[in-house]
Amino acid sequence: MTSEHFQVLSLLLFCVLHSSEQTCPSKCFCMSDTVRCSSVGLHELPQSLPSFPTNLDFSHNHIIRLDPDTLTMTPRLEKLWMAHNEIRTLSHNVFRNVSGLRLLDLSSNRLQMVEQHYFQGLWRLEELRLFNNRITQVEGSSLSGLSSLKKVYFSFNQITHFPFFFIQDHTHPFLAMLDLSSNRMSSLPWEDVKALPQLVQQGLYTHNNSFICNCSMYDMFRHWNLSKYNSIKDFTDEHTCNVNGDPCKSIRFFRDNGFFQNCTEKPIIQPETDLPDVVVFEGNRVHLDCQTSISSTNLSFTWLSPSRGFITQSSMNDTRINMFPDGTLEIHATTTNNSGVYLCTAVDIKQALNATCKVKVIVLLRFHTGYTTLLGCIVTLVLILAYLFLTPCHCSFCKQPPVHSNQGTLSCIFSYFTRKQPNTDTLKHVAFMEHPMGEDRIEWIPQS
Ligand SMILES: *[C@@H]1O[C@H](CO)[C@@H](O)[C@H](O)[C@H]1NC(C)=O
Ligand SMILES: *[C@@H]1O[C@H](CO)[C@@H](O)[C@H](O)[C@H]1NC(C)=O
Ligand SMILES: *[C@@H]1O[C@H](CO)[C@@H](O)[C@H](O)[C@H]1NC(C)=O
Ligand SMILES: *[C@@H]1O[C@H](CO)[C@@H](O)[C@H](O)[C@H]1NC(C)=O
Ligand SMILES: *[C@@H]1O[C@H](CO)[C@@H](O)[C@H](O)[C@H]1NC(C)=O
Ligand SMILES: *[C@@H]1O[C@H](CO)[C@@H](O)[C@H](O)[C@H]1NC(C)=O
Repeated sequence: MTSEHFQVLSLLLFCVLHSSEQTCPSKCFCMSDTVRCSSVGLHELPQSLPSFPTNLDFSHNHIIRLDPDTLTMTPRLEKLWMAHNEIRTLSHNVFRNVSGLRLLDLSSNRLQMVEQHYFQGLWRLEELRLFNNRITQVEGSSLSGLSSLKKVYFSFNQITHFPFFFIQDHTHPFLAMLDLSSNRMSSLPWEDVKALPQLVQQGLYTHNNSFICNCSMYDMFRHWNLSKYNSIKDFTDEHTCNVNGDPCKSIRFFRDNGFFQNCTEKPIIQPETDLPDVVVFEGNRVHLDCQTSISSTNLSFTWLSPSRGFITQSSMNDTRINMFPDGTLEIHATTTNNSGVYLCTAVDIKQALNATCKVKVIVLLRFHTGYTTLLGCIVTLVLILAYLFLTPCHCSFCKQPPVHSNQGTLSCIFSYFTRKQPNTDTLKHVAFMEHPMGEDRIEWIPQS
Protein backbone atom coordinates (compact mmCIF):
# COMPACT_ATOMS: atom_id res chain seq x y z
CA MET A 1 0.00 0.00 0.00
CA THR A 2 1.47 3.36 -1.01
CA SER A 3 1.47 6.30 1.38
CA GLU A 4 -1.10 7.95 -0.84
CA HIS A 5 -3.48 5.06 -0.34
CA PHE A 6 -2.84 5.23 3.33
CA GLN A 7 -3.71 8.91 3.45
CA VAL A 8 -6.93 8.38 1.59
CA LEU A 9 -7.80 5.56 3.94
CA SER A 10 -7.13 7.58 7.07
CA LEU A 11 -9.17 10.44 5.66
CA LEU A 12 -12.01 8.02 5.03
CA LEU A 13 -11.66 6.73 8.55
CA PHE A 14 -11.92 10.29 9.88
CA CYS A 15 -15.06 10.83 7.86
CA VAL A 16 -16.62 7.68 9.22
CA LEU A 17 -15.70 8.56 12.78
CA HIS A 18 -17.34 11.94 12.52
CA SER A 19 -20.79 12.46 11.21
CA SER A 20 -20.85 12.42 7.46
CA GLU A 21 -21.15 16.20 6.84
CA GLN A 22 -18.33 17.10 9.28
CA THR A 23 -15.31 17.08 7.02
CA CYS A 24 -11.96 17.74 8.53
CA PRO A 25 -9.88 20.14 6.40
CA SER A 26 -6.84 18.53 4.85
CA LYS A 27 -3.58 18.74 6.81
CA CYS A 28 -5.54 19.36 10.00
CA PHE A 29 -6.22 17.21 13.04
CA CYS A 30 -9.80 17.03 14.13
CA MET A 31 -10.35 15.89 17.69
CA SER A 32 -13.24 15.80 20.11
CA ASP A 33 -13.66 19.56 20.48
CA THR A 34 -10.61 20.84 18.65
CA VAL A 35 -9.50 21.43 15.10
CA ARG A 36 -5.78 21.91 14.93
CA CYS A 37 -4.19 23.24 11.75
CA SER A 38 -1.00 24.76 13.11
CA SER A 39 2.28 24.93 11.20
CA VAL A 40 0.89 23.48 7.98
CA GLY A 41 1.71 26.37 5.66
CA LEU A 42 -1.85 27.64 5.22
CA HIS A 43 -2.23 30.93 3.36
CA GLU A 44 -5.92 31.23 4.11
CA LEU A 45 -8.54 29.67 6.32
CA PRO A 46 -10.03 26.45 4.93
CA GLN A 47 -13.17 26.83 2.82
CA SER A 48 -15.18 24.74 5.20
CA LEU A 49 -14.86 23.66 8.78
CA PRO A 50 -16.80 21.21 10.89
CA SER A 51 -19.28 22.83 13.24
CA PHE A 52 -18.32 21.01 16.43
CA PRO A 53 -15.05 22.63 17.53
CA THR A 54 -14.82 24.92 20.51
CA ASN A 55 -11.08 25.29 19.90
CA LEU A 56 -9.53 26.27 16.60
CA ASP A 57 -5.79 26.42 16.22
CA PHE A 58 -4.37 28.08 13.11
CA SER A 59 -1.16 29.34 14.66
CA HIS A 60 2.17 29.34 12.77
CA ASN A 61 0.85 29.71 9.23
CA HIS A 62 0.87 32.48 6.65
CA ILE A 63 -2.74 33.54 6.94
CA ILE A 64 -3.29 37.16 6.01
CA ARG A 65 -6.95 37.58 6.77
CA LEU A 66 -9.75 36.23 8.91
CA ASP A 67 -12.81 35.42 6.90
CA PRO A 68 -16.17 36.08 8.58
CA ASP A 69 -17.80 33.37 6.48
CA THR A 70 -15.47 30.69 7.73
CA LEU A 71 -16.11 31.58 11.33
CA THR A 72 -19.86 31.38 10.64
CA MET A 73 -19.46 27.62 10.49
CA THR A 74 -18.17 27.27 14.02
CA PRO A 75 -20.84 28.80 16.22
CA ARG A 76 -19.58 27.03 19.34
CA LEU A 77 -16.09 28.47 19.11
CA GLU A 78 -14.57 29.48 22.43
CA LYS A 79 -10.87 29.66 21.73
CA LEU A 80 -9.24 30.86 18.55
CA TRP A 81 -5.50 30.56 18.22
CA MET A 82 -4.05 32.62 15.38
CA ALA A 83 -0.59 33.49 16.69
CA HIS A 84 2.33 33.71 14.24
CA ASN A 85 0.46 34.57 11.08
CA GLU A 86 0.50 37.61 8.82
CA ILE A 87 -2.75 39.32 9.67
CA ARG A 88 -2.59 43.08 9.15
CA THR A 89 -6.13 44.14 9.74
CA LEU A 90 -9.51 42.73 10.73
CA SER A 91 -12.55 43.40 8.61
CA HIS A 92 -15.94 44.37 9.93
CA ASN A 93 -18.09 41.70 11.54
CA VAL A 94 -15.38 39.04 11.59
CA PHE A 95 -16.59 37.69 14.89
CA ARG A 96 -20.27 38.21 14.17
CA ASN A 97 -21.16 34.54 14.56
CA VAL A 98 -18.73 33.54 17.28
CA SER A 99 -19.94 35.68 20.13
CA GLY A 100 -19.10 32.87 22.55
CA LEU A 101 -15.40 33.44 22.04
CA ARG A 102 -13.50 33.49 25.33
CA LEU A 103 -9.91 33.54 24.10
CA LEU A 104 -8.55 35.28 21.05
CA ASP A 105 -4.87 34.94 20.30
CA LEU A 106 -3.65 37.27 17.56
CA SER A 107 -0.16 37.62 18.95
CA SER A 108 2.85 37.76 16.61
CA ASN A 109 0.93 39.02 13.62
CA ARG A 110 1.26 42.29 11.72
CA LEU A 111 -1.59 44.34 13.10
CA GLN A 112 -0.80 48.04 12.94
CA MET A 113 -3.83 49.43 14.61
CA VAL A 114 -6.64 48.31 16.85
CA GLU A 115 -9.73 49.78 15.30
CA GLN A 116 -12.96 50.46 17.02
CA HIS A 117 -14.89 47.67 15.28
CA TYR A 118 -12.33 44.89 15.68
CA PHE A 119 -13.75 43.08 18.66
CA GLN A 120 -17.33 44.17 18.41
CA GLY A 121 -19.79 41.77 19.94
CA LEU A 122 -17.22 39.75 21.87
CA TRP A 123 -18.79 40.42 25.21
CA ARG A 124 -17.76 37.02 26.54
CA LEU A 125 -14.11 37.47 25.64
CA GLU A 126 -11.88 36.92 28.67
CA GLU A 127 -8.41 36.95 27.21
CA LEU A 128 -7.12 38.98 24.30
CA ARG A 129 -3.57 38.49 23.12
CA LEU A 130 -2.14 41.12 20.82
CA PHE A 131 1.49 41.10 21.85
CA ASN A 132 4.28 41.27 19.30
CA ASN A 133 2.40 43.00 16.54
CA ARG A 134 3.15 46.41 15.04
CA ILE A 135 0.40 48.27 16.77
CA THR A 136 0.97 51.99 17.05
CA GLN A 137 -2.55 53.03 17.91
CA VAL A 138 -5.39 51.62 19.97
CA GLU A 139 -8.66 53.35 19.26
CA GLY A 140 -10.47 54.44 22.37
CA SER A 141 -13.63 52.45 22.15
CA SER A 142 -12.09 49.30 20.70
CA LEU A 143 -12.23 47.70 24.12
CA SER A 144 -15.70 48.93 25.00
CA GLY A 145 -18.25 46.21 25.15
CA LEU A 146 -15.66 43.60 26.11
CA SER A 147 -17.18 43.44 29.54
CA SER A 148 -15.93 39.97 30.47
CA LEU A 149 -12.31 40.80 29.79
CA LYS A 150 -9.82 39.53 32.36
CA LYS A 151 -6.48 39.76 30.60
CA VAL A 152 -5.24 41.88 27.71
CA TYR A 153 -1.73 41.69 26.31
CA PHE A 154 -0.43 44.62 24.27
CA SER A 155 3.26 44.20 24.99
CA PHE A 156 5.95 44.34 22.30
CA ASN A 157 4.18 46.82 20.09
CA GLN A 158 4.81 50.46 19.27
CA ILE A 159 2.06 52.06 21.26
CA THR A 160 2.73 55.65 22.33
CA HIS A 161 -0.63 56.38 23.97
CA PHE A 162 -3.16 54.07 25.45
CA PRO A 163 -6.82 55.03 26.00
CA PHE A 164 -6.94 54.26 29.73
CA PHE A 165 -9.95 56.46 30.02
CA PHE A 166 -12.13 53.78 28.42
CA ILE A 167 -11.40 51.28 31.16
CA GLN A 168 -13.57 51.80 34.16
CA ASP A 169 -15.11 49.82 36.97
CA HIS A 170 -18.48 49.42 35.35
CA THR A 171 -17.18 48.76 31.83
CA HIS A 172 -14.53 46.16 32.71
CA PRO A 173 -15.32 44.77 36.16
CA PHE A 174 -13.10 41.69 35.82
CA LEU A 175 -10.05 43.14 34.11
CA ALA A 176 -7.04 42.18 36.22
CA MET A 177 -4.22 42.35 33.71
CA LEU A 178 -3.35 45.02 31.24
CA ASP A 179 0.08 44.44 29.79
CA LEU A 180 1.55 47.46 28.03
CA SER A 181 5.18 46.61 28.65
CA SER A 182 7.81 47.02 25.91
CA ASN A 183 6.01 49.74 24.03
CA ARG A 184 6.91 53.36 23.27
CA MET A 185 5.01 55.34 25.82
CA SER A 186 6.95 58.36 27.04
CA SER A 187 4.55 59.09 29.82
CA LEU A 188 1.34 57.83 31.34
CA PRO A 189 -1.70 60.11 31.57
CA TRP A 190 -1.63 60.15 35.37
CA GLU A 191 -5.14 61.40 35.87
CA ASP A 192 -6.57 58.55 33.83
CA VAL A 193 -4.23 55.96 35.31
CA LYS A 194 -5.06 56.99 38.86
CA ALA A 195 -8.70 56.66 37.99
CA LEU A 196 -8.30 53.06 36.80
CA PRO A 197 -10.06 50.43 38.90
CA GLN A 198 -7.83 49.09 41.66
CA LEU A 199 -7.80 45.63 40.07
CA VAL A 200 -6.45 47.04 36.82
CA GLN A 201 -3.79 49.14 38.56
CA GLN A 202 -2.56 46.04 40.31
CA GLY A 203 -2.21 44.24 37.03
CA LEU A 204 -0.89 47.10 34.92
CA TYR A 205 2.46 46.24 33.36
CA THR A 206 4.32 49.19 31.86
CA HIS A 207 8.00 48.34 32.19
CA ASN A 208 10.42 48.78 29.29
CA ASN A 209 8.72 51.78 27.75
CA SER A 210 10.35 55.12 26.95
CA PHE A 211 9.19 57.10 29.95
CA ILE A 212 10.71 60.51 30.48
CA CYS A 213 12.15 60.65 33.99
CA ASN A 214 10.22 62.97 36.22
CA CYS A 215 8.91 63.14 39.72
CA SER A 216 5.27 62.43 39.02
CA MET A 217 6.23 59.26 37.18
CA TYR A 218 8.57 58.24 39.95
CA ASP A 219 6.01 58.93 42.67
CA MET A 220 3.44 56.78 40.94
CA PHE A 221 5.74 53.81 40.50
CA ARG A 222 7.05 54.22 44.04
CA HIS A 223 3.49 54.07 45.26
CA TRP A 224 2.88 50.87 43.29
CA ASN A 225 6.14 49.46 44.58
CA LEU A 226 5.18 50.16 48.18
CA SER A 227 1.87 48.45 47.46
CA LYS A 228 3.93 45.41 46.44
CA TYR A 229 2.32 44.95 43.06
CA ASN A 230 3.70 42.00 41.13
CA SER A 231 4.08 44.13 38.03
CA ILE A 232 6.84 46.03 39.85
CA LYS A 233 8.23 43.21 41.96
CA ASP A 234 8.73 40.83 39.05
CA PHE A 235 10.24 43.41 36.68
CA THR A 236 12.13 45.79 38.97
CA ASP A 237 15.14 46.07 36.69
CA GLU A 238 13.09 46.54 33.54
CA HIS A 239 11.57 49.72 34.91
CA THR A 240 13.54 52.35 33.08
CA CYS A 241 13.17 55.99 32.17
CA ASN A 242 15.08 58.35 29.93
CA VAL A 243 16.73 61.39 31.47
CA ASN A 244 15.38 64.44 29.62
CA GLY A 245 13.73 62.00 27.24
CA ASP A 246 17.10 61.01 25.79
CA PRO A 247 17.00 57.30 24.95
CA CYS A 248 20.78 57.15 25.38
CA LYS A 249 20.43 58.19 29.02
CA SER A 250 18.25 55.38 30.23
CA ILE A 251 18.26 54.68 33.95
CA ARG A 252 16.70 51.92 36.03
CA PHE A 253 14.70 54.05 38.31
CA PHE A 254 14.25 51.54 41.10
CA ARG A 255 18.02 51.09 41.25
CA ASP A 256 19.51 54.49 40.43
CA ASN A 257 16.99 56.37 42.47
CA GLY A 258 19.53 58.99 43.53
CA PHE A 259 18.24 60.85 40.53
CA PHE A 260 14.89 61.22 42.23
CA GLN A 261 16.09 62.16 45.69
CA ASN A 262 14.71 65.66 45.30
CA CYS A 263 11.26 64.53 44.30
CA THR A 264 8.84 65.76 46.88
CA GLU A 265 6.68 63.10 48.37
CA LYS A 266 3.45 64.69 47.41
CA PRO A 267 0.22 62.86 48.00
CA ILE A 268 -0.62 60.82 44.93
CA ILE A 269 -4.13 62.14 44.62
CA GLN A 270 -4.01 65.86 44.14
CA PRO A 271 -7.09 67.99 44.33
CA GLU A 272 -8.34 68.84 40.89
CA THR A 273 -9.31 72.29 39.88
CA ASP A 274 -12.83 72.01 38.69
CA LEU A 275 -13.45 74.94 36.43
CA PRO A 276 -12.14 75.13 32.89
CA ASP A 277 -9.39 77.57 32.05
CA VAL A 278 -10.45 77.94 28.45
CA VAL A 279 -13.92 77.82 26.95
CA VAL A 280 -14.20 77.98 23.20
CA PHE A 281 -16.81 77.33 20.58
CA GLU A 282 -16.38 74.45 18.21
CA GLY A 283 -14.61 75.55 15.02
CA ASN A 284 -12.85 78.50 16.62
CA ARG A 285 -9.14 78.96 16.99
CA VAL A 286 -7.65 78.73 20.44
CA HIS A 287 -4.28 79.54 21.97
CA LEU A 288 -3.07 77.74 25.05
CA ASP A 289 -0.22 79.38 26.90
CA CYS A 290 2.39 77.35 28.64
CA GLN A 291 2.95 79.56 31.67
CA THR A 292 5.12 77.91 34.23
CA SER A 293 7.20 79.09 37.11
CA ILE A 294 10.41 78.94 35.06
CA SER A 295 11.38 82.21 33.47
CA SER A 296 14.44 81.12 31.51
CA THR A 297 14.60 81.98 27.83
CA ASN A 298 16.00 78.70 26.62
CA LEU A 299 13.14 76.33 27.25
CA SER A 300 11.80 73.39 25.35
CA PHE A 301 8.14 72.62 25.61
CA THR A 302 6.03 69.50 25.39
CA TRP A 303 2.27 69.35 25.44
CA LEU A 304 0.23 66.34 26.35
CA SER A 305 -3.15 66.68 24.75
CA PRO A 306 -6.20 64.54 25.37
CA SER A 307 -7.00 63.91 21.73
CA ARG A 308 -3.61 63.45 20.11
CA GLY A 309 -1.16 62.64 22.84
CA PHE A 310 2.24 64.25 22.95
CA ILE A 311 2.99 67.33 20.93
CA THR A 312 6.50 68.69 20.68
CA GLN A 313 7.89 71.19 18.29
CA SER A 314 9.93 68.60 16.43
CA SER A 315 7.02 66.20 16.13
CA MET A 316 4.76 68.89 14.69
CA ASN A 317 3.38 67.71 11.43
CA ASP A 318 -0.18 68.73 11.45
CA THR A 319 -2.02 71.53 9.77
CA ARG A 320 -4.67 71.63 12.44
CA ILE A 321 -2.38 72.31 15.34
CA ASN A 322 0.64 74.52 15.75
CA MET A 323 3.20 75.19 18.44
CA PHE A 324 5.13 78.42 18.80
CA PRO A 325 8.68 78.73 20.14
CA ASP A 326 7.34 80.24 23.36
CA GLY A 327 5.38 77.05 23.97
CA THR A 328 1.98 78.42 23.01
CA LEU A 329 -0.19 75.78 21.44
CA GLU A 330 -2.57 76.84 18.71
CA ILE A 331 -5.50 74.72 17.64
CA HIS A 332 -6.85 76.09 14.39
CA ALA A 333 -10.37 74.77 14.38
CA THR A 334 -11.43 73.13 17.59
CA THR A 335 -13.74 70.14 17.63
CA THR A 336 -15.50 68.83 20.70
CA ASN A 337 -12.95 66.12 21.09
CA ASN A 338 -10.30 68.76 21.75
CA SER A 339 -11.91 69.18 25.16
CA GLY A 340 -9.95 67.98 28.11
CA VAL A 341 -6.93 68.65 30.25
CA TYR A 342 -3.79 69.79 28.45
CA LEU A 343 -0.53 69.39 30.27
CA CYS A 344 2.45 71.49 29.30
CA THR A 345 5.98 70.71 30.44
CA ALA A 346 8.72 73.27 30.11
CA VAL A 347 12.24 71.96 30.46
CA ASP A 348 15.39 74.00 30.91
CA ILE A 349 18.04 71.47 30.11
CA LYS A 350 20.99 73.65 31.14
CA GLN A 351 19.76 74.26 34.65
CA ALA A 352 18.01 70.88 34.89
CA LEU A 353 14.78 72.62 35.72
CA ASN A 354 11.32 71.71 34.66
CA ALA A 355 7.81 72.73 35.45
CA THR A 356 4.39 71.83 34.24
CA CYS A 357 1.13 73.62 33.90
CA LYS A 358 -2.31 72.37 33.25
CA VAL A 359 -4.94 73.97 31.05
CA LYS A 360 -8.45 72.65 31.07
CA VAL A 361 -10.28 73.27 27.81
CA ILE A 362 -13.96 72.94 27.09
CA VAL A 363 -15.15 73.14 23.51
CA LEU A 364 -18.78 74.02 23.19
CA LEU A 365 -20.94 72.61 20.46
CA ARG A 366 -22.20 75.09 17.92
CA PHE A 367 -25.90 75.14 17.39
CA HIS A 368 -27.42 77.12 14.57
CA THR A 369 -26.56 80.79 14.55
CA GLY A 370 -29.49 82.02 16.61
CA TYR A 371 -28.73 79.60 19.39
CA THR A 372 -25.04 80.31 19.14
CA THR A 373 -25.57 84.00 19.73
CA LEU A 374 -27.98 83.35 22.56
CA LEU A 375 -25.69 80.76 24.06
CA GLY A 376 -22.77 83.12 23.63
CA CYS A 377 -24.65 85.79 25.59
CA ILE A 378 -25.60 83.40 28.35
CA VAL A 379 -22.11 82.00 28.57
CA THR A 380 -20.60 85.47 28.69
CA LEU A 381 -23.08 86.56 31.35
CA VAL A 382 -22.50 83.48 33.40
CA LEU A 383 -18.75 83.73 33.07
CA ILE A 384 -18.74 87.38 34.07
CA LEU A 385 -20.85 86.47 37.10
CA ALA A 386 -18.52 83.64 37.91
CA TYR A 387 -15.63 86.02 37.46
CA LEU A 388 -17.16 88.46 39.91
CA PHE A 389 -18.23 85.91 42.46
CA LEU A 390 -15.27 83.64 42.55
CA THR A 391 -12.38 85.72 43.75
CA PRO A 392 -9.45 85.61 43.83
CA CYS A 393 -8.95 84.80 40.18
CA HIS A 394 -5.47 84.06 38.93
CA CYS A 395 -5.61 85.13 35.37
CA SER A 396 -2.27 83.85 34.30
CA PHE A 397 -3.64 82.62 31.00
CA CYS A 398 -5.70 85.59 30.06
CA LYS A 399 -4.82 87.30 26.85
CA GLN A 400 -8.09 89.02 26.16
CA PRO A 401 -11.04 90.16 28.19
CA PRO A 402 -13.71 87.55 28.71
CA VAL A 403 -15.86 88.05 25.67
CA HIS A 404 -17.04 85.61 23.10
CA SER A 405 -15.24 86.58 19.95
CA ASN A 406 -16.32 85.38 16.55
CA GLN A 407 -12.80 85.93 15.33
CA GLY A 408 -12.00 82.82 17.21
CA THR A 409 -8.95 84.03 19.05
CA LEU A 410 -10.76 83.86 22.34
CA SER A 411 -8.04 82.24 24.29
CA CYS A 412 -9.04 82.26 27.84
CA ILE A 413 -11.94 83.35 29.89
CA PHE A 414 -10.62 82.84 33.34
CA SER A 415 -8.32 80.68 35.24
CA TYR A 416 -8.75 79.09 38.61
CA PHE A 417 -5.56 77.29 38.20
CA THR A 418 -4.37 77.63 41.74
CA ARG A 419 -7.69 77.88 43.42
CA LYS A 420 -9.24 74.92 45.16
CA GLN A 421 -12.97 74.62 44.75
CA PRO A 422 -14.14 71.66 46.72
CA ASN A 423 -17.83 72.27 46.19
CA THR A 424 -17.96 73.51 42.65
CA ASP A 425 -18.77 70.86 40.16
CA THR A 426 -17.62 71.09 36.57
CA LEU A 427 -20.35 68.76 35.47
CA LYS A 428 -22.85 71.41 36.28
CA HIS A 429 -21.24 73.56 33.64
CA VAL A 430 -21.41 70.84 31.13
CA ALA A 431 -25.00 69.98 31.93
CA PHE A 432 -25.84 73.59 31.54
CA MET A 433 -24.03 73.92 28.25
CA GLU A 434 -25.90 71.01 26.81
CA HIS A 435 -29.25 72.52 27.68
CA PRO A 436 -28.85 76.15 26.83
CA MET A 437 -32.57 76.74 26.69
CA GLY A 438 -33.48 75.36 30.10
CA GLU A 439 -34.09 78.36 32.32
CA ASP A 440 -33.98 76.27 35.46
CA ARG A 441 -30.34 75.55 34.67
CA ILE A 442 -29.36 79.03 35.77
CA GLU A 443 -29.17 77.52 39.25
CA TRP A 444 -25.64 76.28 38.56
CA ILE A 445 -24.16 79.76 39.11
CA PRO A 446 -21.73 79.26 41.96
CA GLN A 447 -23.08 80.49 45.26
CA SER A 448 -19.84 81.25 47.04
C1 LIG B 1 -24.42 35.16 11.65
O1 LIG B 1 -24.80 36.37 12.29
C2 LIG B 1 -25.71 37.14 11.53
C3 LIG B 1 -25.90 38.46 12.28
O2 LIG B 1 -25.92 38.29 13.64
C4 LIG B 1 -27.01 36.38 11.36
O3 LIG B 1 -27.90 37.13 10.58
C5 LIG B 1 -26.70 35.07 10.65
O4 LIG B 1 -27.87 34.30 10.56
C6 LIG B 1 -25.64 34.28 11.41
N1 LIG B 1 -25.26 33.12 10.64
C7 LIG B 1 -25.26 31.89 11.14
C8 LIG B 1 -24.88 30.80 10.20
O5 LIG B 1 -25.53 31.69 12.31
C1 LIG C 1 12.23 46.25 25.50
O1 LIG C 1 11.50 46.67 24.36
C2 LIG C 1 12.20 46.54 23.13
C3 LIG C 1 11.36 47.09 22.04
O2 LIG C 1 10.28 47.80 22.47
C4 LIG C 1 12.56 45.11 22.87
O3 LIG C 1 13.30 44.99 21.69
C5 LIG C 1 13.34 44.56 24.04
O4 LIG C 1 13.58 43.19 23.86
C6 LIG C 1 12.60 44.79 25.34
N1 LIG C 1 13.43 44.37 26.45
C7 LIG C 1 13.01 43.55 27.40
C8 LIG C 1 13.98 43.24 28.47
O5 LIG C 1 11.89 43.06 27.40
C1 LIG D 1 12.49 67.89 36.70
O1 LIG D 1 12.98 68.47 37.89
C2 LIG D 1 13.25 67.55 38.93
C3 LIG D 1 13.71 68.34 40.13
O2 LIG D 1 12.86 69.44 40.32
C4 LIG D 1 14.31 66.57 38.46
O3 LIG D 1 14.57 65.62 39.45
C5 LIG D 1 13.85 65.89 37.20
O4 LIG D 1 14.84 65.05 36.70
C6 LIG D 1 13.49 66.90 36.14
N1 LIG D 1 12.96 66.23 34.98
C7 LIG D 1 13.34 66.51 33.75
C8 LIG D 1 12.65 65.78 32.65
O5 LIG D 1 14.20 67.34 33.53
C1 LIG E 1 19.01 67.74 44.92
O1 LIG E 1 19.16 68.74 45.92
C2 LIG E 1 20.50 68.96 46.34
C3 LIG E 1 20.50 69.96 47.47
O2 LIG E 1 19.29 70.64 47.56
C4 LIG E 1 21.33 69.43 45.15
O3 LIG E 1 22.68 69.61 45.55
C5 LIG E 1 21.25 68.38 44.06
O4 LIG E 1 21.95 68.82 42.91
C6 LIG E 1 19.81 68.08 43.68
N1 LIG E 1 19.78 66.99 42.73
C7 LIG E 1 19.07 67.03 41.60
C8 LIG E 1 19.11 65.83 40.74
O5 LIG E 1 18.40 67.99 41.28
C1 LIG F 1 4.87 64.94 7.59
O1 LIG F 1 3.75 64.53 6.83
C2 LIG F 1 4.05 64.27 5.47
C3 LIG F 1 2.76 63.92 4.76
O2 LIG F 1 1.69 63.90 5.60
C4 LIG F 1 5.07 63.14 5.38
O3 LIG F 1 5.41 62.90 4.02
C5 LIG F 1 6.32 63.53 6.15
O4 LIG F 1 7.23 62.44 6.16
C6 LIG F 1 5.96 63.88 7.59
N1 LIG F 1 7.15 64.35 8.29
C7 LIG F 1 7.46 63.93 9.53
C8 LIG F 1 8.70 64.53 10.09
O5 LIG F 1 6.79 63.13 10.16
C1 LIG G 1 -12.84 64.11 16.54
O1 LIG G 1 -13.91 64.79 15.93
C2 LIG G 1 -13.96 64.67 14.51
C3 LIG G 1 -15.10 65.50 13.98
O2 LIG G 1 -15.68 66.28 14.94
C4 LIG G 1 -14.11 63.21 14.11
O3 LIG G 1 -14.09 63.08 12.72
C5 LIG G 1 -12.98 62.42 14.71
O4 LIG G 1 -13.15 61.05 14.45
C6 LIG G 1 -12.89 62.62 16.22
N1 LIG G 1 -11.72 61.95 16.71
C7 LIG G 1 -11.74 61.15 17.78
C8 LIG G 1 -10.45 60.55 18.18
O5 LIG G 1 -12.76 60.92 18.39
